[in-house]
Amino acid sequence: MILKDQIHSDQLPEHIAIIMDGNGRWAKQRGKVRVFGHEKGARSVKEVTESCAELGVKYLTLYAFSTENWKRPKLEVQTLMKLLISSLRKEIESLKENDISLTAIGNLSALPKKVHEELLHVMEETKSNSRMTLTLALSYGSREEIISAFKEISTKVKNNIISPEKIDESIINEHLYTRNLPDVDLLIRTSGEQRISNFLLWQIAYAELYFTEVLWPDFGKENLYEAIVNYQNRERRFGQTSEQLT
Ligand code: FPP
Repeated sequence: MILKDQIHSDQLPEHIAIIMDGNGRWAKQRGKVRVFGHEKGARSVKEVTESCAELGVKYLTLYAFSTENWKRPKLEVQTLMKLLISSLRKEIESLKENDISLTAIGNLSALPKKVHEELLHVMEETKSNSRMTLTLALSYGSREEIISAFKEISTKVKNNIISPEKIDESIINEHLYTRNLPDVDLLIRTSGEQRISNFLLWQIAYAELYFTEVLWPDFGKENLYEAIVNYQNRERRFGQTSEQLT
């Protein structure tokens, strides 16, 4: 039976997050420069985004550029930024056609002005789309996000807007970049690495983790289906026993 038919549409992960890894190695295996891998990786972004929307996944969050990625060679950073601009320009129409809204999380003001402007433009143009929300994590670091939430909450405590006893999970959620997103159900990382790399640390508390050897530029819809089928075969207990769940 083909993989897609094995997916139960009533048990889809509501929120999938992906650490897209392996672009550089994919290029190196072909004797090409790393940027070639990022270009092919952008095509995987399109295929996976459209497949998620088609399946009925409501939220897809992609780790496109971490706070640590600024330390990469200047030329690679510049090329990634150019690739972002060209992908945003190229894909705005298909985001509209597919009824997908684009959002972003991270320290967006650290992005080059052109990238920031293009991003805001696509976000504005797609904001009323409702089939799926695609979130790009850009200049994103989870610890930085948590620190910034702490700062905002403590300022509110100082100004008597929040009392310390009232601080709970929902207050913390409301101060994270992901305030409009539900918790992650399925986290995928490609390329065989089994780490979280400072991605959505708070939001993956109960996520199922799926690691695959496939390099991101080779990751397509069949690989996505495989990850979802694997997720659906797991039992999510949220700390309870199997008996309690049945
Ligand atoms: C990791 O591979 C990938 C990135 C740091 C960037 C992800 C960017 C894209 C997929 C391209 C465009 C994105 C969008 C949203 C259009 P790596 O370079 O760390 O690979 P390596 O571990 O093999 O060196």
